[in-house]
Amino acid sequence: GLPPLVDPFGRHISYVRVSVTDRCDMRCTYCMAEDMHFLPKEQLLTLEELDRLCSAFIARGVKTLRITGGEPLIRRNILSLFRALSRHLKSGALSELTLTTNGSQLARYAEDLAACGIRRINVSLDTLDADRYRSVTRWGDHAEVLRGIEAARAAGLKIKINMVALQGVNEHEIVPMLEWAHGQGMDLTLIEVMPMGVIETDRADQYLPLTRVRTALESRFTLRDIAYKTGGPARYVEVGETGGRLGFITPLTHNFCEGCNRVRVTCTGTIYMCLGQEDAADLRTPLRAAVSDELLHQALDEAIARKPKGHDFDIDRHHAMPAVSRHMSMTGG
Ligand code: GTP
Ligand code: 5AD
Ligand code: SF4
Repeated sequence: GLPPLVDPFGRHISYVRVSVTDRCDMRCTYCMAEDMHFLPKEQLLTLEELDRLCSAFIARGVKTLRITGGEPLIRRNILSLFRALSRHLKSGALSELTLTTNGSQLARYAEDLAACGIRRINVSLDTLDADRYRSVTRWGDHAEVLRGIEAARAAGLKIKINMVALQGVNEHEIVPMLEWAHGQGMDLTLIEVMPMGVIETDRADQYLPLTRVRTALESRFTLRDIAYKTGGPARYVEVGETGGRLGFITPLTHNFCEGCNRVRVTCTGTIYMCLGQEDAADLRTPLRAAVSDELLHQALDEAIARKPKGHDFDIDRHHAMPAVSRHMSMTGG
């Protein structure tokens, strides 16, 4: 077979995040600006091209594929991509096919996703309050997301709730969120906000260091570090009182780049070797240049050879000017 993808620091690339659209049906205030310009649809890779690209990564030893957006479930005909990719689960070449979603379309898609072999999904939900939800997402419908989560549970999908910790916005909701998620058998992961893209708010005003959150939680709960790993950068604890798992994603207070196992591809076939760096490479041209994947694999090798050591997110430096100009919605996190 083809050689695995190994970067100059000896890190194996086993996890690829593929964004299938830069669009979203919401506009979370920490993620996007109010006035976003989206890509013309003719620039997108087709679903067939996305399948070919994903399959090329799998041929290089990638074991986890996470489909992202924007909001992946608003891409037209997205189920056909999941259906096509599920053949790699059946063959055993792929260990996990999954997605990160805002949940708005889950009521409609949960059963079909489960039928495609998806076992576990990450749902972004920053608050349990419908009014606050509308203000964070700019117009999102909280009840619709709750119905989506319910449908996913009914379909047998395991759910991890992603909550971006925002100072002065949802800080006081961390405990209720924890109790709610764990009460329903769902994991909860807290995320430090990353300075990506210009938004209306100063990042320093919304940034909440999770070291502080953890200390506050420890006065109320028993947190026990556990070795549980999902493949991503979260470090998990078990909460004694709830019996549930709580994850911390701490790019700012505890760098995890040393263990990086991933790259991401945008919906136009641009590969970003690091979430926190501008450097990117074009995969669409080699993908379209030939029916064979030879040029594509060559382009992958060249890209991985340039993977940087890590990000240099720094709220003090990047509070007004972001670390990278693109918004999180370009790479789906
Ligand atoms: P699993 O561990 O497989 O459940 O996924 P994940 O937590 O990596 O994926 P998810 O899409 O749920 O991402 C949660 C948050 O982690 C998002 O804010 C991502 O941007 C962030 N994240 C994921 N991977 C990386 C990474 O490599 N570097 C940084 N800095 N942040 C990441
Ligand atoms: N910093 C941290 N997380 C972010 N997300 C979106 N924008 C940011 C940001 N600037 C989160 C979403 C979703 C995940 C993919 O990334 O809430 O849960
Ligand atoms: Fe990997 Fe870059 Fe994320 Fe660090 S910031 S874990 S190097 S993608």
